[in-house]
Amino acid sequence: MPSTRVRFATTSSRTVNVRAAVVNAEPVVVKREDVITSSPANNVTDHIFEKIGYNLHKRADHPLGIIKAAIAEYFDDKFGAGVFSQFDDQYPIVTAFANFDSVLVPPDHVSRSPNDTYYVDSDTVLRCHTSAHQLEMLKGGATKFLVTGDVYRRDSIDATHFPVFHQMEGVRIFDAEEWESTGVDPIVLAQGELKDTLEGLARHLFGEVEMRWVDAYFPFTEPSMELEIFFKGEWLEVLGCGVMEMKILEEAGLGDKRAWAFGLGLERLAMVLFDVPDIRLFWSDDKRFTKQFKEGMFRAGGAGMTKFKSYSKYPPCLKDVSFWLPKEGNSFTENNLCEVVRNVAGTLVEEVKLIDEFENPKKGLTSNCFRIVYRSMERSLTDEEINALQDQVRADMVSKLGVELR
Ligand code: DAH
Repeated sequence: MPSTRVRFATTSSRTVNVRAAVVNAEPVVVKREDVITSSPANNVTDHIFEKIGYNLHKRADHPLGIIKAAIAEYFDDKFGAGVFSQFDDQYPIVTAFANFDSVLVPPDHVSRSPNDTYYVDSDTVLRCHTSAHQLEMLKGGATKFLVTGDVYRRDSIDATHFPVFHQMEGVRIFDAEEWESTGVDPIVLAQGELKDTLEGLARHLFGEVEMRWVDAYFPFTEPSMELEIFFKGEWLEVLGCGVMEMKILEEAGLGDKRAWAFGLGLERLAMVLFDVPDIRLFWSDDKRFTKQFKEGMFRAGGAGMTKFKSYSKYPPCLKDVSFWLPKEGNSFTENNLCEVVRNVAGTLVEEVKLIDEFENPKKGLTSNCFRIVYRSMERSLTDEEINALQDQVRADMVSKLGVELR
């Protein structure tokens, strides 16, 4: 998980169809009680449950489906058609073992915290990265593969962060003959092919975009690096990758092989490729959004490709809330606040940001003021409904986060 960004209300009885962990398994149904349980460790909200099973990456006319296909096409061109097997149907509820231990995430790693990850119970999570499937795929005999799926993270709220997003994982195993025949050190060989492959992928998607490699740390790779591309005046991290730790290969019974692996975020790439200004739009079924995307519209290098045309935004509604943090405990965190806001307002919340903070030494208390920006992608909001949402947020902040409103 990237070290840079530490990540790494409504009730519903809706059931959703997703496929089981085993490739080609029958679809299974995720019921509310499969993810919202009585376990004290459970922190999955209805807002999150309702997002499971959409499989946006499997919709051919959706930007995420289009970019997934463009990436698969690149791998077919580079390595030969079908050489990389594709898996789109891995079950998003995984064991904590698969999500963390199987890829060597240390016991005290921040990503294990319930502040960052959705726990169904203490041993089961909503996967927070597609790396959760590496070991099982390797054990199943896959040697070159792409795994695409929805991943879940508790996080702050802004235009580029949403608690559900989509990743693609790529893994490529090398046999001893491959490095022996070249005389090149296997780590050097793997790292070289990895960088070459991913730079080629970035050019396939974006054309002559500015990019740079940044050293990184991931528990599952050594060496590890991140690729950033320059977009709208800033460096945007688009993927993490590296040479797979031998321990993972050994665990899979492949101790005589080497491998590279990468993980990328489809939303990030799609926002750049199509010029989509807000991550929530990927979830919109507003025709003005959906009808702009069609299977086959991708053009290699982005040459002459149609970009998303923003339609006029509805006005935002800003609400500030000031409060004293609880004196003790850690019930208040920014992620927890965002979770409270999301559970009340769903996709109507555009941003939650800290705008003021001070300490009162006499009282020994810290005050925070957060600004919540509400905006619908689809319609104008009324004062009445925003006030009702804000009242509910305020009440939940007191009852769930233990803050004292000012
Ligand atoms: N799992 C990482 C994340 O979610 C991304 C990643 C980094 C995947 C390096 C990999 C890898 O396979 O080798 O941030």
